[in-house]
Amino acid sequence: MAENKFTPWEVEGDIDYDRLMTKFGIKPLDWKQLPEIFKPNVLFKRNKIFAHRDFNKISEAIENGKPFCMMTGLMPTGKFHIGHMILAKQFIEYQKAGAKLYIAVADIEAFQARGQSLEVSRKKAIEEYISNYIALGLKPENVEIYFQSNRSSDPVKANAYYRLQNLLARHITFNEFRATYGDVTPGKMTAGLLQAADMLHPQLKEFDGPIPTIVPVGTDQDPHIRLARDMARKIKEVKLNTFSSTYHVFVPGLGGGKMSSSDETSHIGLTESAKVVKKKVNKYAFSGGQVTLEEHRKLGGNPDVDISYQWLTFFEEDDAKLKQIYDSYKSGELLSGELKAILIEKLNTMLEVHQSNRKIAFKNLDQFIELTSDEKKFYNNYSEE
Ligand code: TRP
Repeated sequence: MAENKFTPWEVEGDIDYDRLMTKFGIKPLDWKQLPEIFKPNVLFKRNKIFAHRDFNKISEAIENGKPFCMMTGLMPTGKFHIGHMILAKQFIEYQKAGAKLYIAVADIEAFQARGQSLEVSRKKAIEEYISNYIALGLKPENVEIYFQSNRSSDPVKANAYYRLQNLLARHITFNEFRATYGDVTPGKMTAGLLQAADMLHPQLKEFDGPIPTIVPVGTDQDPHIRLARDMARKIKEVKLNTFSSTYHVFVPGLGGGKMSSSDETSHIGLTESAKVVKKKVNKYAFSGGQVTLEEHRKLGGNPDVDISYQWLTFFEEDDAKLKQIYDSYKSGELLSGELKAILIEKLNTMLEVHQSNRKIAFKNLDQFIELTSDEKKFYNNYSEE
């Protein structure tokens, strides 16, 4: 399978997860060995979170009732879609398991890698990401959401974070950067070092350190993780442990391949109307069915390539129901149009709840981030229409 483009800033073409695992040396995640609390979660149960580094440190912390934290980040460049839910659901799960959460809004990264202004990033982070996280169930207790450009109004904390970024810089060479990222610019180096500081700074004494940290990411972020782990091992100026990480698969786009914010035909946004959802699934979801009704009845459909079925594996939590759909589609009893109807119903039920939660979320934003008084007014009366 061609691995067309695979850097932290660009993913194109098909992704061969097995090859990524052997190439990067990350390990398969064994569901049986997970702490009980994670086992019922669809993402763990169905192997959507399929690989890890050092997850045992997190399991041990949970089993011994020791504190741990979860750190991850988002680059606020596009519309929030159902693919983004995968990560959000994970950090809500870690919050339930007792973790302190650190969530970085990568506005510096968006500036360096995409040329997006800090103002636009702030607006998108609030309207597309943070509001959706709250609607999905993120609680304000024990969570720090921060912008890379504005770590903290507490100078002791802010200094520690940016100091770490600068100390780390001495423990990596230009060639290592180039080998990991391909194309390198000073801006991308800055962003790479800042992301390393994101992942490592919870361990500093000015924050919660020393503390086991889990960093859940999509597989494309592993280059960042490898560099940060390397630097953590080399740095002498502060004592840092390596952190743990997990890797999740991407929800495929409607037509197959990667779901993309900029391609309307590939994704479903969390604010989309029931009518649009129905139209998009019917029109764009790649079908594993046969061309004619007769052939479908005779040969059956192929759920393994059918995108509607693949999406249901992320969103239909009932195992028995899912299996029944799989079997009846494969046998030809369930038609492609009927399978799409099941998905449409599932998505629209989910989105209806989500959209009503989102309205309330805007009123609670200031429990999660500091807002200016203008922003407070604006978001208190915020309406999508
Ligand atoms: N680079 C990540 C992205 O493209 C965002 C990010 C910034 C991040 N800092 C992080 C992810 C720390 C995990 C951990 O989405």
